[in-house]
Amino acid sequence: MHVTVDGEPVPAKPGRTIAALLHTMGRARIFCGIGVCFDCVVTLNEVPDVRSCQRIATDGDTVRTRP
Ligand code: FES
Repeated sequence: MHVTVDGEPVPAKPGRTIAALLHTMGRARIFCGIGVCFDCVVTLNEVPDVRSCQRIATDGDTVRTRP
């Protein structure tokens, strides 16, 4: 399974969140990890302001960490 992060294809493990994937890449901005603080927002599949700690990665997802 692969997710594209800022244009880069990245292997991802099933069942893990987008935030966890970004954390493994050293790109995560995570404060609460439970959906409260919105520090972890990304653009996911062209939908802005998605809390990455609340979304399980799926094959083919496209993530932008910057607007
Ligand atoms: S880390 Fe706080 S909402 Fe995701």
